[in-house]
Amino acid sequence: MGNKRDFLSLWDVTQAEFAALIRRAEELRFLRQVRTPHATRPGRVVALIFEKASTRTRVSFEVAVWELGGHAVVLGRNDSQLGRGEPIKDTARVMSRYCHAIMVRTFGHERVKELADYATVPVINGLTDLLHPCQVLADLQTVYAHYANHASKGPTASVPDVLSVLRGLRYAWVGDGNNMANTWIEAAGLLGLDLALACPAGYQPNPDVLETARRKGHGRIQVVLDPRQAVAGRHVVSTDVFASMGKEEEAEARKRAFVGYGVDRALMAAADGSAIFLHCLPAHRGEEVSDEVIEGPASQVWQEAENRLHSQKALLEWLLS
Ligand code: CP
Ligand code: NVA
Repeated sequence: MGNKRDFLSLWDVTQAEFAALIRRAEELRFLRQVRTPHATRPGRVVALIFEKASTRTRVSFEVAVWELGGHAVVLGRNDSQLGRGEPIKDTARVMSRYCHAIMVRTFGHERVKELADYATVPVINGLTDLLHPCQVLADLQTVYAHYANHASKGPTASVPDVLSVLRGLRYAWVGDGNNMANTWIEAAGLLGLDLALACPAGYQPNPDVLETARRKGHGRIQVVLDPRQAVAGRHVVSTDVFASMGKEEEAEARKRAFVGYGVDRALMAAADGSAIFLHCLPAHRGEEVSDEVIEGPASQVWQEAENRLHSQKALLEWLLS
């Protein structure tokens, strides 16, 4: 399939490429803030395929493509023949003849892999049951900008080094060992981060993702049961819903299994004094996060959601170059 690049997992980029994406995402954030047009990919058409619901991914990708000068074709669950069982490998080959890139959100990770195998254009994972790499890209842009503290200065030659800033911090995940937890594990492996995850028994992260990150990676990754142990002294505390899309029928059982795993003010008090709180959203207040934490001073969730736009523009520029 030529030398096209895909973004199915964080392992699809190198450390240097990841850092370059964050730097460019920050430049793009600044350009938009000062209303400087940046239509760097005119005439490019990107298909956005959704087999699951979405607010942020749907809107941020469509706006990103449009602001880069291109056009997005959005296909929801019932809009294409995929919903009636057309094979994904056939869809991949047909879409590649119309579009310059394909983003897909679906259930099994193997569906995204098959799409990428048969597509002749770059494929982006917009969330699977296993991974959500676009979200953790935006999350680490948020962490970088917050801790590098250059938000209002714009791009300058003296901006702090992305990898140095990110590696100087300690990260915690609390809750379900889901697609977001798995992607944080990939990030820790790829970038060499210190990450502690607290997940209840039976809801641990994917063992293959963990094994790969530990084998290939440079990070320090611990999985524990106790949220306080995971959060103690950490600079970044992240969580996500207890029942992800596709797990709705388990919601009541999960609420019982996750008692004690909500991020509330008492748990945040165990983190570093400067700690920030992240959540990919949508959030369930009173379950995985208390209202006072998500609305409180440590919360970076709205900037995090905004950064989906900037980081995906950086990603699209790179994949469409
Ligand atoms: N965080 C995230 O991916 O949100 P959506 O499900 O709304 O796209
Ligand atoms: N873990 C959540 C993330 C939503 C953006 C889910 O898969 O539903």
